[in-house]
Amino acid sequence: MSIAPLDGDTPAAAPWSPFAVREGNAFDALYARLQPEIAALIAQYEEKRSALIPLAQLFQDHEGYVSADAQAAIAHLVGETEATVESTISFYTLLFRKPVGKYMVQICRNLSCLLNGAAEIMDYARERLGIGHLETTDDGVFSYEEVECLAACDRAPCAQVNLEFVYDLTREKIDAMIDAMRAGTYEIAPLVQTARPVRTWRVDNNHGRKAPGARGVSDPNNAGGIGDPSGLKMFDLIVGKPRYEVRSDERLVHETTLRPELAEDGHH
Ligand code: FES
Repeated sequence: MSIAPLDGDTPAAAPWSPFAVREGNAFDALYARLQPEIAALIAQYEEKRSALIPLAQLFQDHEGYVSADAQAAIAHLVGETEATVESTISFYTLLFRKPVGKYMVQICRNLSCLLNGAAEIMDYARERLGIGHLETTDDGVFSYEEVECLAACDRAPCAQVNLEFVYDLTREKIDAMIDAMRAGTYEIAPLVQTARPVRTWRVDNNHGRKAPGARGVSDPNNAGGIGDPSGLKMFDLIVGKPRYEVRSDERLVHETTLRPELAEDGHH
């Protein structure tokens, strides 16, 4: 199955602006159509900025992702900068900043799930889908991502598909899921697609918009998780440096309970 070119494939003539409607532009038409929902969402909160995430979810429901135009519109609606909107959205794996497949399969790779076989399940899902972490199949049907704790640890290993929970994963369950998605009979509805999905939304760890000091330390493709080596790298960087040793010794002297031998003889 291949997906036809959609509106989002045609680059917008100009970025979204609150002051001009771009003739024939799909996002501008959507924005106009959603005005009642937008107003109702904003009215629910004392501060407009509290509506940032609900607005992102609203646009994602209609676009399949939160487009650059949607991010600009949200910034305008809640009175924040586009950078604030983007950084908020980028924090959550529930919000997609790039067009993704009709089925976004997000398998949890955190502790409880790993203890219950998530590594094998992830290997199997990658093999069956033919794609890796943060990738979409060429036919635009599947996207795959490994995510952090989904707060369903009692049903590990688990996943979310189009943000709906799937519990107690097994190889057989993965097979059944993928077959049903391919056949269009899966119980969870496909995502809306208004733009051609990107092959991968992985970002270059050493470039992009990262501050020089952060390059090579944290991994934006595995933020804070099992695959993120930043903790170890930071550990290597700071442990052993004299100023940290001094600080750590001071702390140990003051907090003798942290070092039993200090507590016993009462001196360093
Ligand atoms: S560790 Fe997977 S849901 Fe918590």
